Amino acid sequence: MINFLIVLILLLIIITFWCNYRSTKVKWSVENISIDRFKFPSNFLWGAATSAHQVEGGCTNNDWVLWETAYNEKGMPRIKGGQKAGKASDHWNRYKEDIKMLKDLGCNAFRFSLEWSKIEPEPGKWDKSVIEHYQEVCETLKQEKIIPFVTLHHFTNPIWIWNKGGFENSDTVRYFTEYVYKVGEALGQYVDYWGTINEPAVYSKLGWFLGIFPPGKRDVSLAARVLFNILKAHAEAFHALHDIDRFDADGDGVPCRVGIIKSIEIFDPARRWFVPDWYVCKMIDRTFNQSTLDAIQTGKFIFKIPGVVSYEENYPRLENTLDWIGLNYYTQKLCKFDLRSEHKFKIFPDKKLPKTDMGWAVYPQGLYRALKILNVLGVPIYITENGIANDKDDLRKKYILNHIDAVNEAIADGIDVRGYFYWSLMDNFEWAEGFDKRFGLYHINYKTQQRTLKEGSEVYREIIAASKKQST
Ligand code: FCB
Repeated sequence: MINFLIVLILLLIIITFWCNYRSTKVKWSVENISIDRFKFPSNFLWGAATSAHQVEGGCTNNDWVLWETAYNEKGMPRIKGGQKAGKASDHWNRYKEDIKMLKDLGCNAFRFSLEWSKIEPEPGKWDKSVIEHYQEVCETLKQEKIIPFVTLHHFTNPIWIWNKGGFENSDTVRYFTEYVYKVGEALGQYVDYWGTINEPAVYSKLGWFLGIFPPGKRDVSLAARVLFNILKAHAEAFHALHDIDRFDADGDGVPCRVGIIKSIEIFDPARRWFVPDWYVCKMIDRTFNQSTLDAIQTGKFIFKIPGVVSYEENYPRLENTLDWIGLNYYTQKLCKFDLRSEHKFKIFPDKKLPKTDMGWAVYPQGLYRALKILNVLGVPIYITENGIANDKDDLRKKYILNHIDAVNEAIADGIDVRGYFYWSLMDNFEWAEGFDKRFGLYHINYKTQQRTLKEGSEVYREIIAASKKQST
């Protein structure tokens, strides 16, 4: 018995050492960053990102509108303080001013999403004026020499799709593909970079695992099915766009490049000496980060949490459906094995790190680590979101500097990063949190819709200017 215990303890010690040894170490100073040290390629894309429901205003026909008037089991509104997106940042009417703001920062790219519910308000009925609106947005970008990165699905669905069960229903894949064909045909002349789905795993996690996004369910098997269906939608969109978009808008010889937008959270063990914490970390990382990446590479989708869910499906048309990958990076979380909690683990931010208004830990080294994770895919990486909710604006400057410094390190180490989009261009409707969480480079006064560049955002303009100067 004693021998057995000794062997077990030795084994645990060896595993702990191995886990610590294998984990990526990033230790560089996050103080006194000098912009002059940065070296970005001359064709690097500098941009900012938005999404339709969060900024446009006038979304009256999607599932979020229903959610904004719904209440939870305790009778509390689903959105903090019962807020509604309503006019949001009025970007629908002010897009010209907003594109000028991008230009003023020196940006050469803009990531935005199309609102499916406006384009196809009823099944098979296309709103011509809405399609023309998006064509005008693209035309304005073209005149300003700003490259459009268009997201096709950013969390919202038309109400008619919702009534059919949304992505719980695999028929939605077919409806989505029809919509993709339509917009591919209408906007292909302007757009070469298409992002199919924003954060598939986050979408399924928040709606079906944590229940804080519509439909507010807590059913892990359904979460797995939704994730699988939305990955199929990505695959079909990939093939549809390559089929329909033959127009080389930027004249580089390639008419269409299709990617997916993947959120990577860095998961570290709460106790680095405790093997079960490492195990929980690996499992969470596999479920929320790796399962999506593996599925897109191999066509095989495996979603497993021992004792909770075991879901496996094949979809060969999903294999190798990436021309690029978008990375949304915000934070790191610690994982802990915990027998008392529902799923036997806990995930929480590191107490020692500074926090944003979302309560997210600020951990710029995680951006470098996330880039390393995506690098194995062998396709160009664009950072499609990275930013901070910080109403006081006292952390934004350092946040931007440190995170772009991490990108600079990654490029220096040979990782193929081609662009960085700050989230977000302006303050907006932050989903279940409402308007209080201010991520914008530009502050919005919601009474007047006046936009003002925040002091903490000036550094972004300086970084872009310095990188352009270097390459001339
Ligand atoms: C991401 C979403 C984006 C925004 C940021 C803060 O997960 O893609 O719409 O809400 O978080």
